Amino acid sequence: MIVVLLGAPGSGKGTQGGPLSAKFGLAHVATGDMFREHIKTGTELGQLAQSYLNSGALVPDEVTVRMVRERLQRPDATNGVILDGFPRTLPQATALDEALNDEGKQVDVVPCVSVSTDELLRRLGGRWICRASGHTYHIDSNPPKTAGVCDVDGSELYQREDDSIDVARKRLGIYFEQTGPVVDYYRGRGALVEVNGEQSIDEVFRDLAEALKARTEPTRAV
Ligand code: AP5
Ligand code: MG
Repeated sequence: MIVVLLGAPGSGKGTQGGPLSAKFGLAHVATGDMFREHIKTGTELGQLAQSYLNSGALVPDEVTVRMVRERLQRPDATNGVILDGFPRTLPQATALDEALNDEGKQVDVVPCVSVSTDELLRRLGGRWICRASGHTYHIDSNPPKTAGVCDVDGSELYQREDDSIDVARKRLGIYFEQTGPVVDYYRGRGALVEVNGEQSIDEVFRDLAEALKARTEPTRAV
């Protein structure tokens, strides 16, 4: 199963992508996390991507598409993937179709998590992330048991540089301008499933899981 998890910055893609991929036995492929890992380890790709991430701009399509194509070749992706943060532009969406076509696959379902702009800014402004594995918290709505420390692995929590209010606003603008057409692209193909992201984390997970199940289970006659 190939799942494209769409939603604006702060809508909860990362929060939901990990647990969903575990439940359905899919690889969680999050392009933002991949870029941040390259930056952390100082690769050539990381050096190229850094200024784009810090300023909230998109990394050029050809660089991003090459990175994702390589990732889809890894053994853990053969069962299927949840793509989080990709595709974000129409050229990325068509490049993904071509890459999947080459292997006789296609995008099966595209849940799109909707959240109002005010709530997105509130979530980005209060987000804390663990350095070791990217576990995500929110200072008000999903706080860690001990401030500044990850509940799961005890590592330090930090705030992303691109979550500052100015950069967060810029990222939202880019989402509506460049990723809006991607939402329409999948809606036109009948693959889009709208999910209300302004519910509790558990309720959003339930709705996403239902959207994935609906595309995988054969319809039963009554
Ligand atoms: P990326 O890392 O993908 O960031 P993003 O799309 O901006 O999304 P975020 O990670 O900010 O939000 P999220 O939806 O994952 O929300 P989260 O679950 O953390 O990309 C970063 C950068 O990389 C881009 O700007 C670009 O430079 C580059 N890049 C990446 N992909 C690219 C591409 N394809 N092409 C080109 N460039 C690319 O949740 C947010 C907060 O809300 C958390 O605090 C969480 O605890 C809280 N929360 C979550 N759900 C709920 C809920 N239901 N109720 C209350 N709080 C909640
Ligand atoms: Mg994320």
